[in-house]
Parts: sequence; C-alpha cells; structure tokens
Amino acid sequence: MRQIIIAGNWKMYKTVRDASEFLQEFLQHLEHTPEGREIVLCIPATSLWVISKSLHGSRIRLGAQNVHWEEEGAFTGEIAPGMLTEIGVRYVVVGHSERRQYFGETDETVNKRLIAAQKAGLKPILCVGETKAQRDSGETEKIIISQLEKGLPGVDLAQLVIAYEPIWAIGTGDTCEVKEANRVIGVIRSQLSNPDVPIQYGGSVKPNLIDEIMAQPEIDGVLVGGASLVPQDFARIVNYF
Ligand code: 13P
Repeated sequence: MRQIIIAGNWKMYKTVRDASEFLQEFLQHLEHTPEGREIVLCIPATSLWVISKSLHGSRIRLGAQNVHWEEEGAFTGEIAPGMLTEIGVRYVVVGHSERRQYFGETDETVNKRLIAAQKAGLKPILCVGETKAQRDSGETEKIIISQLEKGLPGVDLAQLVIAYEPIWAIGTGDTCEVKEANRVIGVIRSQLSNPDVPIQYGGSVKPNLIDEIMAQPEIDGVLVGGASLVPQDFARIVNYF
C-alpha cells in the first residue's frame, strides 16, 4: 500500500513568529482530516527546534530542506543528519531544483545526501524534474531516468519519497496538466524495483486543483510551495476531496 504524503515546502519563508502563527490557525483545520494522510511541513532550519516542540502530540511531521552527508565537520553552512533527528525532524527534501540550480547540487551530491539521511533515520523526499527546454526537446523521460539512475544507487527504496517537480511548473502558476503529471509519475514508478515508493507531484499546486490531482491513480501526494504558506490554502489541500 502506497502512503499518501502531503508536504509543504516553505523554502526561505517565515520567521519563527510567522511559523507559530501559521500553526495556530492551520492546526484548527485538521480535526476532520482522514487518518491515513501523512502531513509534512518542510520549514527553514531556524524554526525547526521551536516548531518541533510545539508540534509534539500533533499529527504533523517535520521536515528539513537540506542535509549534509557527513556526521560532522568543517562544512560551514551545512546541517548534519544527526542534528535534525535530535530535534525530531523526520523528513528532508533532497535535490530540490532550486538547490541544483542555485547551489551547485549534483546527482552525485544528491545521492550522498540521500544515503546519509536514511542512515540517520530520516526519510528523504527526492526531487526530480525537467526544465522547459528539456521538455520542449522531448527529453523529459531521459532526464528523469538519468536523475534516478545517478541519485538512487545505495538508497533504500522502502524509506524514500520521490517528488516529480517539473521545473517550469514551480512558482509559475503553470501547473503541469494532471494527466501528464500522472503519466510521468508512472514512468518514474516503472524505473523502481519497489512499487510502493510514494511519488508526489509538485509545481504550482493550488487548492482549486488538488481534488483533480489526487484523483490520479499514480499520484500519491503533493509537494507544495507557495500554497503551503497560507493556512487556509494548505488546509484545503490536506483535506482534499
Ligand atoms: P510552488 O508550489 O510554489 O510552485 O513550489 C513547488 C515546489 O518547489 C515545492 O518544492
């Protein structure tokens, strides 16, 4: 059985105060959320510790947005896996296109981060996806298969989430057509030896689209940027159907 995972990625938004205010309102909307849905918030590192304490006993799981592969060392600006697990973080986004594009993340460093995260007991959310130019030149499948082939050696598929995030759909309001997202996610699944890996769609997911997205047979959840910053919007998303 594939798990449904609805995750918010706050990126570089919200101070601790903003995060606390968000939660006060968001938690009120979870009373009737069906049990089987895992709800994850991947928030800035500065808020993880405080929010972890305030989420104690709630059904929201905490996620980070990056993790280093070493247990400690002279790596200014990085965060070790054990630093995250110590404060109750369960998930971590790895290989987001913004990290690949702006911070030199490669499939090789993505692979190291995935392995280290799992070794520490974190469940990584591996992001894959093509650019507009790659899609237009018919390379979507080739790019994604290559990201998986280079990113996944040595990774435990039983402790992994994958997010299909077409780069051209991120932050643009230009959501991937749901049937197409479903098709590409089917391609991703066909590359995996474990059919139970939850595979999310990400890229301009909005409340008005969520029911249609979650009705697709291959799509096991969503990774939401902008709409996860607004309590009512993210509540509508986790309470889809
Ligand atoms: P948006 O939902 O803002 O397009 O962001 C998607 C994303 O990058 C989630 O990781």
